[in-house]
Amino acid sequence: MGERLKDKVAVVTGTGGLGIGQGCALALAREGAAVVGCDIDEKLAGETLALATEEGLLYESFVADLTDPAANDQLMAFAVERFGGLDVLITAAAFVEFAPVEEFDYDKHWRRTLQGELDLVFLSCKAAWSHLKARGGGSIINFASANAYVALPSGALAHCATKGGVLAMTRQLAMEGGRYRIRANTISPGPVVSKHIQERVNREPGFEEMIKKSLMLDRLGTPEDIGHCAVYLASDESSWVTGSDIRVDAGATAM
Ligand SMILES: NC(=O)c1ccc[n+]([C@@H]2O[C@H](COP(=O)([O-])OP(=O)(O)OC[C@H]3O[C@@H](n4cnc5c(N)ncnc54)[C@H](O)[C@@H]3O)[C@@H](O)[C@H]2O)c1
Repeated sequence: MGERLKDKVAVVTGTGGLGIGQGCALALAREGAAVVGCDIDEKLAGETLALATEEGLLYESFVADLTDPAANDQLMAFAVERFGGLDVLITAAAFVEFAPVEEFDYDKHWRRTLQGELDLVFLSCKAAWSHLKARGGGSIINFASANAYVALPSGALAHCATKGGVLAMTRQLAMEGGRYRIRANTISPGPVVSKHIQERVNREPGFEEMIKKSLMLDRLGTPEDIGHCAVYLASDESSWVTGSDIRVDAGATAM
């Protein structure tokens, strides 16, 4: 166990499943942070808690639907009550809808994706802000995507819009947070093997090879690849880094 995040308290959202939230939560806890992980899915959240407990990490689980503003307030209050303050927020909870443009429905695809990829980020940042301020500063890490920079062949109209939105929103958080020493940065992952991507890899022959053609390195990303970057942005090693976007994408946006 490392000590790069010793004495820091982190809230990580979207920690259920085998995705980026889980990867970041475990990476932070392995570097000594006290972590509260939150997910809407009680079973998946419990699995991450079990992994953390097995490793002897300082980890608490909070189950909530973070589309509810009050649930975000309760989550941050729980972390402060349990661990004495809040230093780091990582917002990995998300949901998204894909459809070709002509089938893109205003409620089913557009509004739902904006709720799942923008509202969830805003609500958690808003709820954490006063606690980070009270602590004399902190680090917010949001997720944009390679798709904030490059389009997908089909279906990603709202997804690309929200990811551009996360970049812009995070820059504004950085600007307004500077005077309080609250830093805000984004990570833009390329294709990372989360539950959904793994299911497609298993289901669709050739899918993995097709994705790999869009990368400079010959493998898909893992939640651990993203966790390493999150540890850096959460730690004081990045204390002069704010308003930035770090692309962890095997060169996907540089081709
Ligand atoms: N996986 C990738 O390839 C990839 C690439 C680029 C960007 N990203 C971004 O990284 C972030 C995490 O992605 P992921 O692939 O790990 O996602 P994921 O779908 O694997 O995990 C998201 C988690 O959020 C939880 N969640 C959904 N709605 C919630 C709610 N209302 N309240 C609380 N929790 C809720 C889900 O239960 C799930 O466990 C997202 O913003 C995503 O757009 C992912």
